[in-house]
Amino acid sequence: MLNRRNFTTKLLSSSFIPALAIKDKGFLKGISEWITKNDPSESDEDFWNQIRLAYTASQQIVNLNNGGVSPSPKVVQDAVEHFNKLANDAPSYYMWRIMDQGREPLRENLAKFAGVDPEELAINRNATESLDTVILGMSLKKGDQVVLSKYDYPNMLHAWRQREIRDGIELKYVDIDLPLEDNDKVIEKYLDQFTSKTKVVHLTHVVNWNGQILPVRKIADEAKKRGIKVVVDGAHSFAILEFKIPELNCDYFGTSLHKWLSAPIGSGMLWIKKEEIKNIFPLIPNGEPFSENIRKFENLGTRSFMIEQGIGYALNFQNTIGNKRKEDRLRYLKDYWTKEAMSLPKIKMYTPLGKEYSCAIANVGFEEMEAGTIESTLFAKFKIHTSPTKWEKINGARVTPHVYTTTRDLDRLLDGLSYISKM
Ligand SMILES: Cc1ncc(COP(=O)(O)O)c(C=O)c1O
Repeated sequence: MLNRRNFTTKLLSSSFIPALAIKDKGFLKGISEWITKNDPSESDEDFWNQIRLAYTASQQIVNLNNGGVSPSPKVVQDAVEHFNKLANDAPSYYMWRIMDQGREPLRENLAKFAGVDPEELAINRNATESLDTVILGMSLKKGDQVVLSKYDYPNMLHAWRQREIRDGIELKYVDIDLPLEDNDKVIEKYLDQFTSKTKVVHLTHVVNWNGQILPVRKIADEAKKRGIKVVVDGAHSFAILEFKIPELNCDYFGTSLHKWLSAPIGSGMLWIKKEEIKNIFPLIPNGEPFSENIRKFENLGTRSFMIEQGIGYALNFQNTIGNKRKEDRLRYLKDYWTKEAMSLPKIKMYTPLGKEYSCAIANVGFEEMEAGTIESTLFAKFKIHTSPTKWEKINGARVTPHVYTTTRDLDRLLDGLSYISKM
């Protein structure tokens, strides 16, 4: 499977990889020195203004839909551009012989950040690819049950429904309504659905509709006691919440890297516990479906090595800020606007605001007002971009700041929300 890679590794030493002249290197060094000297807190606006300068954030609009997809810092954009130019000098040579040598070091660095063995980690394009690989690739037979929730991400629900149609598996939906600021109740609702036929539970670590953090570890512990496999969708938890994947006690974990890691758009990651790798068929077969080699999930055909190599620069940026500092800042930003917004007339917060229950994302609505009206008014009058979210009982604008968001941006949001509350 690795013939081409082994061959080129022998042929070319890594010193052949052209050095990337990143102009922002000094900038990152400056940030790093600032952190060492000042240990900046989540409310140190001088520090976070510097972080904003690392991005090329729009001056025309305030982007508060980073949950959809996040921009990359300039250093990451430059890396992708550099690799793209290089690839176009002679694509098959520079991509397959030169850049391909960067994949294993990248795997190691990502694995270190995620707290896992590199041999358990595949690099791909997004959370959908990661999780659909697992959902469509695992062996399940007619009558086997899978527990999931209507608040899981639609792409994954579609994949499970396809298995229901094709293989006759049974989908058991947790009877839950969000927001629910009671983890014991959430756990109980999942446990209520477990039976002797349950083979898998699908868990979304942070629910995209309202940003609610689910108690995945506790549900996973209960699932494991019953021999149930655990799939975790970490699209909104990875590179934002401070945790290592093994702490979740799951078997499979998929995430995008273009959300909270700020990696190039079209990058993702799949983790599968070592002993489970052989049990999952790859989405794109490579001739060795039962292989125990995680690289069987990377048989994509021709793809963008430029995007892949950009991930390492995003990881560097993330590590410079520090995951915990980032989590604290993002929770601080959410608290900053939600606390004031809560005093507005007719406000309906669809996110539980307690520390344990949410971090960056919150969803705000108003009585008798459609999500679309809030979103379009925020944009038309205040040039604030949010995501209109109408799902089950949630009917509001989802607001997602990122590390480059400042409190000034959120003051503008508060002006917008105040205006809407009087409409
Ligand atoms: C919870 C969750 N899972 C998975 C995805 C899919 O991510 P992607 O489009 O990068 O595959 C999203 C996207 O918003 C999401 O919110």
